[in-house]
Amino acid sequence: MQRRRFVFNFEDLNCILKLLVGTQLSVSRLLVQIQREHLFLESRVLRSHSESIYHSDRRFHSMRLLQLGFLLALASGLSAILIYFTGTSNLYGSHRLSDEDVEALQSLQGGFRKCVSANGLGLQAVSGNDYCQVTISFPGDTASKWKDPKTGEVEGLSFDFNLCEAVATWEQVRNSTTILTKEFIDALPNGWEDYAWRRINKGVLLNRCANKTLCMEKLSLVLPEAPPYYPRQFGRCAVIGNSGDLLQTRFGKEIDSYDAVIRENGAPIQNYTEYVGKKSTFRLLNRGSAKALDKVVELDETRKESLIIKTTIHDIMNQMIREIRIKNSIYLMLGASFGSAAKGTGLKALEFALSICESVDMYGFTVDPGYKEWTRYFSESRKGHTPLHGRAYYQMMECLGLIRIHSPMRADPNRVVKWVPSQSVIRAARIASEKLLRRVGAGSADPLAACAITRKQVEWKSTMVSSLRKAAVDHQISVKATTMYPLEHNPGHGMLCTVSAS
Ligand SMILES: *[C@@H]1O[C@H](CO)[C@@H](O)[C@H](O)[C@H]1NC(C)=O
Ligand SMILES: *[C@@H]1O[C@H](CO)[C@@H](O)[C@H](O)[C@H]1NC(C)=O
Ligand SMILES: *[C@@H]1O[C@H](CO)[C@@H](O)[C@H](O)[C@H]1NC(C)=O
Repeated sequence: MQRRRFVFNFEDLNCILKLLVGTQLSVSRLLVQIQREHLFLESRVLRSHSESIYHSDRRFHSMRLLQLGFLLALASGLSAILIYFTGTSNLYGSHRLSDEDVEALQSLQGGFRKCVSANGLGLQAVSGNDYCQVTISFPGDTASKWKDPKTGEVEGLSFDFNLCEAVATWEQVRNSTTILTKEFIDALPNGWEDYAWRRINKGVLLNRCANKTLCMEKLSLVLPEAPPYYPRQFGRCAVIGNSGDLLQTRFGKEIDSYDAVIRENGAPIQNYTEYVGKKSTFRLLNRGSAKALDKVVELDETRKESLIIKTTIHDIMNQMIREIRIKNSIYLMLGASFGSAAKGTGLKALEFALSICESVDMYGFTVDPGYKEWTRYFSESRKGHTPLHGRAYYQMMECLGLIRIHSPMRADPNRVVKWVPSQSVIRAARIASEKLLRRVGAGSADPLAACAITRKQVEWKSTMVSSLRKAAVDHQISVKATTMYPLEHNPGHGMLCTVSAS
């Protein structure tokens, strides 16, 4: 199917869009609901098919399908108009799963179970009731210590994950730009009115950037015109968490051997180099750390770290950047939405790393069994949250070939992650998952099919690209120098793309 591609002028379409916004909201909610239902059915059908209990479920399916058909017809009529304007024209593309797709998902899940049991230090994965769901469980004698402060409930010992969701979203991260740029805000429909002011602290008072000059001024110190980093620009990267576990192993030299090292918040280097290394290329900052920018820049003696802020820009920060003459590059992060799973600085750091590195290794996250309490390597206990869920999530990431875990119990630098899926399995499973999840551009061989919004690039990709590593250059060639930004809250995970003008 030939996909229509638009280069939009959103100012022209602004009035029409505003009229449609109300409808759009309810329709997209409906669509998401329908997609879920449909997906559920499809996966049930798939699974029951393979287990030949299809017949007993048949009546149930056809009744549900009738209702669905009606809703779909209603929704698609309305959505057709919207799709025309929003460019997500591939919402109903070639979404049928082929035998090959089913095989790929089966192969991913089979390998995944083996991988978790071979590497997870007691964790076990079992398949759920379709090709996507898995449940990762801790051994029954695991002492669950964390209590939900609201409900007082202790954390459970098993967690459900959607492998399809994970493989589709994380593989997309590898091709995305996760730094906020002016180019992005300019290209986003109502970027300045709706988005920019949310990235400025006290944005409420800015009246949605009615005065764009004022907003641009506030963002100017952290807003590059175009992305400063490229997918696969760095080869091997290490993301260093802040866990007290780090003091159990002398990882310092090993960590310094990476091409780029990514640290978090107020993590010190001095006095701990034996354990955490000296090198520091990036530092991910949450709100609290970003406000103490003057202290944070002192942590790296070379003062060359780039600082990536995952929240908003604050007047205090702007003042410090200007007055203390902070020379480090400082940017705001633009993240994909993973739902509730990936909010902490640790996962954001992994996301950032995966968007610029070929491979990502992880140190200093609390991932081994038998931990007593959460501590930082440089201070006493801290307020943790859902530690077992976190450990299971990282194990899932390792078994999807996204990261490699290093910890006191996995300290051998040459440790091979057993049963990690091959590139080709991941690729095939990712394509199948995109279809199942009805992602924008699913089933197309062209990575640019995921572009829900396309704009021309400002003239910038100059000499820089040719000086990059071969893998990064190859990637630029294969995506025709397109920059792909994640679009938060886009139901089909469509991207905002800026295409090369030449
Ligand atoms: C917008 O903000 C700029 C910078 O603070 C200011 O100079 C200008 O007067 C403001 N414009 C309006 C219309 O308020
Ligand atoms: C390192 O140790 C010295 C001496 O104890 C101390 O003065 C300094 O503040 C420490 N540095 C950090 C970053 O903790
Ligand atoms: C990411 O880019 C590579 C080319 O470097 C391409 O082969 C792959 O399909 C892309 N992945 C996604 C999810 O678009």
